[in-house]
Order: sequence, then structure tokens, then C-alpha cells
Amino acid sequence: MTRTPPTPDLISPSRPVPHDASATPIFQSSSFLFDSYAQIEDVFAGRSDRFIYSRGDNPTVCELEDLIARLEGGEAARGFSSGMAAICGAVLPFVQAGDRIVAVEHLYSDAFRLFETVLARFGVETVYIDGTDTQAMVDALAGARLVYLESPTSWTFRLQDLRAIATEARRLGVVSVIDNSWATPLYQRPHDLGVDLVVHAASKYLSGHSDTLGGLVTGSREMIQAIDHEATHLFGGRMSPMDAFLVLRGMRTLDMRMARHMQTGLELARGLADHPQVTAVHHPGLLATRPEGLSGFGGLFAFDLAAGLDVARFCDALRTIRIGVSWGGPESLIVPGQAACGLAGAANVFQRFGVSPRTIRLAAGLEPAALLMDDLRTALHAAAEAAA
Ligand SMILES: Cc1ncc(COP(=O)(O)O)c(C=O)c1O
Repeated sequence: MTRTPPTPDLISPSRPVPHDASATPIFQSSSFLFDSYAQIEDVFAGRSDRFIYSRGDNPTVCELEDLIARLEGGEAARGFSSGMAAICGAVLPFVQAGDRIVAVEHLYSDAFRLFETVLARFGVETVYIDGTDTQAMVDALAGARLVYLESPTSWTFRLQDLRAIATEARRLGVVSVIDNSWATPLYQRPHDLGVDLVVHAASKYLSGHSDTLGGLVTGSREMIQAIDHEATHLFGGRMSPMDAFLVLRGMRTLDMRMARHMQTGLELARGLADHPQVTAVHHPGLLATRPEGLSGFGGLFAFDLAAGLDVARFCDALRTIRIGVSWGGPESLIVPGQAACGLAGAANVFQRFGVSPRTIRLAAGLEPAALLMDDLRTALHAAAEAAA
């Protein structure tokens, strides 16, 4: 069902490494030295290529960028200090006052807040469309500057027809951007379907150990250069060498971890779908058909508790699964929709698109699936008893 992952690519550094080290070293240096006036003049004038300053380029970060570009099938990539910095880097250089963005509904909460607060303040309007309605997405593109996708969407895990949307976007000159953090390039390669820019929160599956934050953007050389001019150099949110090392380290086991996240996620989703105290499970693997290009699944999904069940009692009764935001690490985590709906501050995506307070988002980690299913069953039982 899944493509054979390019394992040698994931495991070994692609560039020559000092002393033939088997792991990419951390080049923890803010700047790099020049041998002569002629050398610095050549580099500044763009006549030769050399590392200058780590806000622009750093050898450890470049190794990771080359790897993600190869895996995604992009020509180039840039690393950022977080997934949100990467989203800003992929969007901001391409829009200006008066532009319109078309975004998929139920997008990641802070991407929504970026569009609704910062970009709105600078005169960029965003319209939100149900991504499962391909015709509505395509119809909305006329006159837009950028289309922002997540397939699947956060919390509701709804899919889009990426080829249809990206093809129309390209025909109209609309920049297409997708957040591919959930599927990773092992299970979905949006560039192959015509999407211009692919964004990753490397904080999730790519790094995979809940010990770092990072973001990546892949695309054509030309578009990455445009991102470079503004986002990399002027916004200053470049990935650090230490974070790049941690993402590279995590990616050496990406294929094994993803296979386990997928298998456990599917097992839990099926177990929950059969449970009398669960009314719905939102997991793309339970759909009868799968869109073109999606060859596997992340372990993050959501389910709805039956009416009357005590959400707080359910959460507090879990023993192995912990309560915590983020996902993609070894530990299984839940976030209750009831708490997310009450998130303080402007532009609450959960209220805007109507996420049910009964929805629980579950990130299946790397623990044994049977242990996690037992935990869920025990907590469902406790929540039902509390309600009785
Ligand atoms: C789908 C998705 N995209 C992007 C991000 C942002 O990543 P980061 O926290 O590294 O900024 C997140 C974070 O939770 C996410 O869930």
C-alpha cells in the first residue's frame, strides 16, 4: 500500500562530511570566514557560492533542506524556526494589500489566526471553502492570489482533490501552498500533483521525538529564491543548526515510525468506530475511497464522544495517553475539542468552523496499540459511568 521509502536517502548524509562522520555534524557557527577581499567581493556579488552567515545559510540546515527537497520532489527548500515561521515564509512573500487568499476550511488554528489577524490588518482578505467540494474550491480561485490547502484538514481530517485544485490554480496564476505535515513525503508528494509550495511543521513527524521545533518549505528554485529574499533574510526566522540536526536525526527513522503511527492509528480508529460510546471517527483511512496521491496515513485523527458522556472524566481517566498539544512524537496525546473551543484570543478556528465540543483529537504514538485501545476503552467506560 505504501511506496518503498527512499531509505538510503533518509539514513546517510548526502554531502561529504568532515572525518567521514556517519551523522551530519552541527555547524554551530553564526558566521563563516573569507580568505581575501576578492573572495568576499565575489560572494557578495553572487559570482561564487559560499556560506556567509547562518541567518542566510548554514551547512547543517542546508543538508536537511536538500533532503526534504529530494523527498518532496521540489527543486529547493528552506528551513525555518517553526512550522508557523515556514507558513509565514511560504505565504507572505507572495501576497500584498488588496489580494485574496482562498483557504480550506478547518485549517490549522494558528494559520487561520495569521490570515484573520495579521494578513487582514495588511489588507489581504481570506475566504474559506469546504475542501471536499472540489468545484467550489476551483470556482473560488478566479481573481485569487494564493490558495492554502491542508489534506487532510486539522481536527476534521477532510481531504481535497489536490490535482484538480492545483491544476486550476496554475492555469490562473494562483500560487498553491499545502501543509503536508500529516502525510509526510513518504505518503503524499503534492508537487507531483501540481502544488507549488509544500510546507512542513518539522516539529511533528519529520523530527518525531517531541524535542525540537522546525519548519520547511519546498518548491521550484524560483519560488524558493523569492522566499529567500524576504522570509529567510528579512523576517529572520531561519532554522538553527541544532534544530536541523535534530530533524535530520529524526528523519533517519521516519519510514519505520510512520509505518507504526499509521498502523496504530488505523487500529485505534477502527476500534473506536465499533465502540458504542463513540458516534463518529474522523480518519481518512476509514473512507471507502482515497484521493489520488495519498498512499498512507499519519497517526493523528479525531473521534466524537457520545452525547451525555463527561468529556473531562474521559480525559482524566486516561493513563497511558496523555493530555497535550502537538503530535508526531513517540507519546500518544489527546486534545479535547471542548477546551479548544474555549481557546482565548482572537479568531478561534474551532468556533468559526464548528468543531464539536464532543470531538477528541488523538495522536497515536509509538506505544503498543493494544495498550492504547485498553486505555481508551477504560476511559470511555469511566466517562459513561460518570454520566449515568
Ligand atoms: C497541521 C499543523 N501545521 C503547522 C503547525 C505549526 O507548527 P509549529 O508548532 O512548529 O509552528 C502545526 C502545529 O501544531 C500543525 O498541527
